Amino acid sequence: MSVFSGKKILLGVSGGIAAYKAAELVRLMVTEGAIVRVVMTEAATQFITPLTLEALSGSKVHRHLFDPLEESAMNHIDLARWADLILIAPASADLLARLRGGHADDLLTTLCLATNAPLWVAPAMNRVMWEHPATKENIDTLRSRGIHLLGPDQGIQACGESGPGRLLEPGLILKALEQAFGAGPWAGLRLLISAGPTREPIDPVRYLSNRSSGKMGYALAEAAQQQGAVVTLISGPTALSPPKVDHFIEVETAKDMLEAVLHHASSADMFIGSAAVADYAPNMAPQKIKKETSTLTLELYKTVDIIGQVSSLDDRPFTVGFAAETENLEAHARLKLKHKALDLIAANHVGDHQGFEVDDNELMVFWEGGQRFLPRAHKTQLAAELLTLILERYHASHST
Ligand code: C5P
Repeated sequence: MSVFSGKKILLGVSGGIAAYKAAELVRLMVTEGAIVRVVMTEAATQFITPLTLEALSGSKVHRHLFDPLEESAMNHIDLARWADLILIAPASADLLARLRGGHADDLLTTLCLATNAPLWVAPAMNRVMWEHPATKENIDTLRSRGIHLLGPDQGIQACGESGPGRLLEPGLILKALEQAFGAGPWAGLRLLISAGPTREPIDPVRYLSNRSSGKMGYALAEAAQQQGAVVTLISGPTALSPPKVDHFIEVETAKDMLEAVLHHASSADMFIGSAAVADYAPNMAPQKIKKETSTLTLELYKTVDIIGQVSSLDDRPFTVGFAAETENLEAHARLKLKHKALDLIAANHVGDHQGFEVDDNELMVFWEGGQRFLPRAHKTQLAAELLTLILERYHASHST
């Protein structure tokens, strides 16, 4: 049975082009068994008709604070009490400002003041508006009051610009809301994982790579997904079938992986860098290199340390790295923990049929002030144990 079954969700829709996505959101929530009532601001009705949301929710849309008919059907205080959860999607810049100010000048803001239900907001606006200090301050204040933020996403916007401010996709909003209804220990957390090797082209037909199979990263991604996380997996080329995760992005080179990871890092709560990223890459020759000389020297250039870039972001996610070592496991792992400014590192021995290309593994996990040994087990079992430990450390770091 879905965690949404029988749950009463009050969906607030404010004025913005993304309001049309409210239709899909209502449809998804109703399909999952939720009882949905919709409240629209006046501006929202300029973008989508109340009739559409009425048809999809199976219930009259509420719009006015002082309409005697609406008030007699269910007055605004009863409506505020009725909801198990209030979700505002899309939440415009203006609505966020009014929520922060504690306004009660229309039905939606009044309900938000009059309710004890958890409030979740999914902002959507032009990227400049989203990045404006006024909006940032509003968001910070709302967050400090315990309001849950969903997104926004990055990408092409209705105005033609590209950047943060897109409404989080309805499917992902639904996924994140599961946390509110207590589904799985990872529910509501957005996890970004890199996995597999990278391939660095030497010429159009040859490349440099490594023995990483991607199995550990895929197992982590699937286990976190099953435990409720919203998972984005960025993978180098592997022989594995695509895992069941929310977003699966395939890349080839370390440079591609860097771009993809940085694109998603700021909107993630956690980044697990399990990919075996090439440390050096050649400049690709435009044509196939001919075997005309008895020796061939390739000049290799150091690639960017992806995880180091993520951990130095201002709004960095909780960052977990891996260390595959052939010797001095603890010393090397602890050094990487420090140099890459990681929150946690999982280290294992490689070589001699250990670590890469095999189905089982054992891990030593280190963080500042602690360590734990996870004994040899199948990578799926190990992934589950490592996730439990990561979550424990994530909560510990957020409670200080
Ligand atoms: O320095 P080393 O490659 O041993 O560190 C391993 C960790 O750093 C892994 O978590 C790996 O995903 C990450 N890494 C990275 N970008 C690189 C090299 C390694 O993110 N260019």
